[in-house]
Amino acid sequence: MSANTAIRDEPEHIRSLLTRLHTESKAQEAAITRDDYNKASIHEVMRDKFIALDEDKAHYIYQLLRATGATTIVEAGTSFGVSTIYLALAANANSKANGKTPVVVATEHEPTKAARAREHWQQCGEDVVKAIDLRVGDLRETLKTNLENVDFLLLDIWTPMALPTLKLVQPKLRHGALIIADNTVMAKDSYKEFLDYVRAPGSGFIDTTVPFEGGLELLVYAPSQ
Ligand SMILES: C[S@@+](CC[C@H](N)C(=O)[O-])C[C@H]1O[C@@H](n2cnc3c(N)ncnc32)[C@H](O)[C@@H]1O
Repeated sequence: MSANTAIRDEPEHIRSLLTRLHTESKAQEAAITRDDYNKASIHEVMRDKFIALDEDKAHYIYQLLRATGATTIVEAGTSFGVSTIYLALAANANSKANGKTPVVVATEHEPTKAARAREHWQQCGEDVVKAIDLRVGDLRETLKTNLENVDFLLLDIWTPMALPTLKLVQPKLRHGALIIADNTVMAKDSYKEFLDYVRAPGSGFIDTTVPFEGGLELLVYAPSQ
């Protein structure tokens, strides 16, 4: 259990659910062998796995969202919906403060994973369910429409998808939007093109690697015009 108490004002039944889901996710990851990673069918191995964002990173993201008042949020890679719960909680809390409509656009390729995510959100309650717009299918299609003025983009997806997703959502980011990408130090080789893109002079992105385990990239989108 993380000592981080960022979500302590959120309902107890949701905090307990999150703790349980993080524990389950960690146990699954610990059981994946080196051999599994070498299999051609790694996607098969991952098909029934959470691979949830680490709890401390999720708390940090919740805090960033509360600091910035984000209500329009996109999540690339939803899996069983653990990180989505944090996004929905923060969007709802911000909405109470600024009157904007909370929308968390969640994306998941695997229908069975999407179904599990929905079950978890239902356990959280109506407020969480109502805040989430789950788009099932390849996000390169599902994010093409109905997306405006995005405050925050979470990239928690297979690394080759990070740059295509960023490029797809970039025209919809508001000035000053935040983007998070997970495991950018651990997977720095497969993130190379992504990191080259955001770090290029004039890219419009301001980039910091936050020293969480595996590395967590924090970007601000602030193009000069
Ligand atoms: C690391 S997991 C997401 C974990 C989740 N954010 C959490 O913290 O609970 C990445 C997910 O991205 C999904 N995914 C991969 N490629 C995708 C694509 N092209 N479109 C939509 N989802 C995709 C995978 O099925 C997988 O469930």
